[in-house]
Amino acid sequence: MKGLTGKKEFVRRSFASIAGSYDPLNTLLSFGLNKWWRRQAVKALAPPEGGLVLDVCAGTMGLGKELLRSAGQLRVVALDFALEMLARGMKRTKDPSLIPVLGDAERLPFREDTFDRVIVGFGIRNLADPQQGVKELFRVLKGEGRLVILEFGKPTLVIFKDLYRWYLSRFIPWAGGLISRQKEVYRYLHDSIMAFLEQEELMEMMKRAGFLQIHSRQLTWGITNLYIGEKPPVGFSPS
Ligand SMILES: C[S@@+](CC[C@H](N)C(=O)[O-])C[C@H]1O[C@@H](n2cnc3c(N)ncnc32)[C@H](O)[C@@H]1O
Repeated sequence: MKGLTGKKEFVRRSFASIAGSYDPLNTLLSFGLNKWWRRQAVKALAPPEGGLVLDVCAGTMGLGKELLRSAGQLRVVALDFALEMLARGMKRTKDPSLIPVLGDAERLPFREDTFDRVIVGFGIRNLADPQQGVKELFRVLKGEGRLVILEFGKPTLVIFKDLYRWYLSRFIPWAGGLISRQKEVYRYLHDSIMAFLEQEELMEMMKRAGFLQIHSRQLTWGITNLYIGEKPPVGFSPS
């Protein structure tokens, strides 16, 4: 893809290099919790029957498949900038309701007010400019539409937080590196989680983009967080 520099190109190349092992390693290293986290995100999204949903940073389209499995009649557009990830996801589905699109989350190739719902799973932390990404999510969402973001957090529970830090900083790079042969990518996972915004900061970013009724919920003692926000109806003016 043309024009990607610095973090963007590093992230795109990293995911391209682990596309083949991404799903099995995710399931293994999260003890299967990744599937439960996705189900919670889809539940929170509550897409309307027959609706059009955008899954941004879709990767191998795990969220899109979960949406189609559990939420009835929908069309899901799955956008990612790593062709290898989308191609991997397409291998195991022929469902025409799941539509892959190669594109940049910070410059979405869609018109304003296109989607009934927008979802991002473990993607926002990977953006070079998360505020620009959130602005784009707001732009393409229809009035009264909902955004759900699922992202890793930093657990604070005593003892558990130390165990988790060890697991994330030592075990995952070792095991992930061994299986995928891309240790650097699994080191980046730790570094990017640690460097990412606090819960309150991401909610503030959503507010700045224009979202209302913003709230968040911790899953599995804060290993992941769900963020939910609504786009105001057309013609709404904040008082
Ligand atoms: C950790 S994966 C998440 C995949 C999937 N959503 C899931 O739940 O498993 C992050 C994905 O974000 C994509 N990504 C990162 N920055 C992006 C950008 N600026 N535009 C589009 N995709 C991006 C990567 O290529 C990668 O596939």
